[in-house]
Amino acid sequence: MTDRKRLRVQELSVGFRIPGALVQAVSEATFEVRPGRCLALVGESGCGKSVLAHALLGLLPDNATVSGQAWLEHGGEPVELVGASQAVLAERVRGRAIGLIPQSPATHLTPVRTARAQLQEAVRELGSRATADDLAARYGLRPHELDRYPHELSGGMAQRVANAIALAGDPWLVLADEPTSGLDRPLVDRAMATLRELCDEGRAVLLITHDLRAAERVADDLAVMYASRLVEVGPVAEVLGRPRHPYTSGLVAAQPDRAFVPIPGLPPELTRLPEGCAFRSRCGHETERCAAPPPMDGGVACHHALEDRHA
Ligand SMILES: Nc1ncnc2c1ncn2[C@@H]1O[C@H](COP(=O)(O)OP(=O)(O)O)[C@@H](O)[C@H]1O
Ligand SMILES: [Mg+2]
Repeated sequence: MTDRKRLRVQELSVGFRIPGALVQAVSEATFEVRPGRCLALVGESGCGKSVLAHALLGLLPDNATVSGQAWLEHGGEPVELVGASQAVLAERVRGRAIGLIPQSPATHLTPVRTARAQLQEAVRELGSRATADDLAARYGLRPHELDRYPHELSGGMAQRVANAIALAGDPWLVLADEPTSGLDRPLVDRAMATLRELCDEGRAVLLITHDLRAAERVADDLAVMYASRLVEVGPVAEVLGRPRHPYTSGLVAAQPDRAFVPIPGLPPELTRLPEGCAFRSRCGHETERCAAPPPMDGGVACHHALEDRHA
């Protein structure tokens, strides 16, 4: 895994046409993921995180319109994921360059086939050198556990099967979409430790989560998303230690181990995003400048970035 590998996402936008409206799910997202690093994408439910991940893998439904670019550089000719055909994505990207650990492994697995059958299928399709048993052992499953059907697996085991399937093709980039939803703390810790190991062996990880605490423990970098848009990006310790966007600051303050004060109000509907800053009505720092869209500048998209407060 060399440093020449990277994913470079530029102004990626996704809209969904629904009867009488357009859902603006992702707006001009720009970020990079590199081997050996974990980027956590955080934000409240419904802000566009999963749609962004699915756009990178060409897994969006027909009513989606995608614009922008996502360059997958991995030695040789880079692949631009937004414009790539389904054939290219299937043959060169999904499972091989990018592995997806899905949001709820238990429901993602086919109910009528054993874990082993599903893992073997991935091994076969991806031409993996490792066997199903190798992969199972590597991700903490005992051989007999592979002979279970999905409903016979605990949450933690289903998670490990999903990891083994996602990694069967030895992808250098792993997308983990809320990999810990429904797991209790010890299993969350374990799943996070696995993601960190994947980074430490030279893979890149894009971790999607609404769990700031988990992000803080495992990620190197943080991207904060609000109402379809990235509002703050930077090293995780800086972003959470000295948040500059009022939304990030609100998210941090809402944590149980902090002030535990929720941000007042609700995010706007993605069918009716305001022209300027989408956070301004909840912010407390709003001025007339906020009616214009704040550009992303030095890692923060806010006309009143909170620098002064921390000076
Ligand atoms: N196929 C679709 N058609 C219309 N809207 C969709 C579709 N898929 C997702 N959305 C909307 O896109 C927005 C972002 O969803 P999602 O990325 O799943 O949020 P999250 O940040 O919780 O992962 C939500 O408002 C969701 O309702
Ligand atoms: Mg999601």
